[in-house]
Amino acid sequence: MNNTNPLVAWPVSHDSAHIPRTVFRCFAPPRLRPTPIRTWFTQWSEDFSASPLVIQSRHQEALARLAPALLCGEQSAINIFQTEDGHLTRKALSVSSMLFHGIENDEIAHEACLQVLRAKLPASRDEHAIRRRSQAYFAGLGRAESVAHHFGQVAQLDSAVCAVMWYMQHSAVGGNSMIGQLVERIRQDEALHVSISRQHAFTLGLSRDDYSHLGELVRGGLTHMLEFVADSFEDIGIDAGLLFARIKRGAL
Ligand SMILES: [Fe+2]
Ligand SMILES: [Fe+2]
Repeated sequence: MNNTNPLVAWPVSHDSAHIPRTVFRCFAPPRLRPTPIRTWFTQWSEDFSASPLVIQSRHQEALARLAPALLCGEQSAINIFQTEDGHLTRKALSVSSMLFHGIENDEIAHEACLQVLRAKLPASRDEHAIRRRSQAYFAGLGRAESVAHHFGQVAQLDSAVCAVMWYMQHSAVGGNSMIGQLVERIRQDEALHVSISRQHAFTLGLSRDDYSHLGELVRGGLTHMLEFVADSFEDIGIDAGLLFARIKRGAL
């Protein structure tokens, strides 16, 4: 039987030439991958997998191009939070490590749900190109000059993800109750990540000016990356120009 639940498929070897289509890999998973604690995504995944995807085929094709870019961001975020956990412990920061594990847990849940979503969509012809482009962007985010900059980037990026999710919620696919639930859930989680990561960045000494400057770089780079899938945003009824302008403004 073809398993469409990526949770069962983990861990998956990154360099395998035989990665099943049901699992998309942009970045190698951390060696020590915790099991997500929260259960909302388990229920969502089961419900989504068990029911037919009732959206137009052109909307499915558009989502098939958007999901890999979103998945790449989630996998990048999981790796970032695993890396930063060591810094957090050593520096005895005021922000609780519980919060960071909570964020990591959220990102794992987001990735799991997006894998389930993608598994139900038609194969995208240019998924390799989308992956390469996304990898290049997110790998660049992994090279911040300090931990403070790193968290500033995370906050700026997650605020952009909030905007993407808001637009998706109000798009042609947001009316599908399962997809609507998913993007709203991710938007809420990312909004919380923004406030935690921003506070953490300032606690570590990032200045407001540096935070703004990082925002311009992060959001400018993201819109450049997403231009590659702008037509897919348009296909689900999102005005890509408006979305990109919103991302560049940095509004939640
Ligand atoms: Fe996420
Ligand atoms: Fe996040």
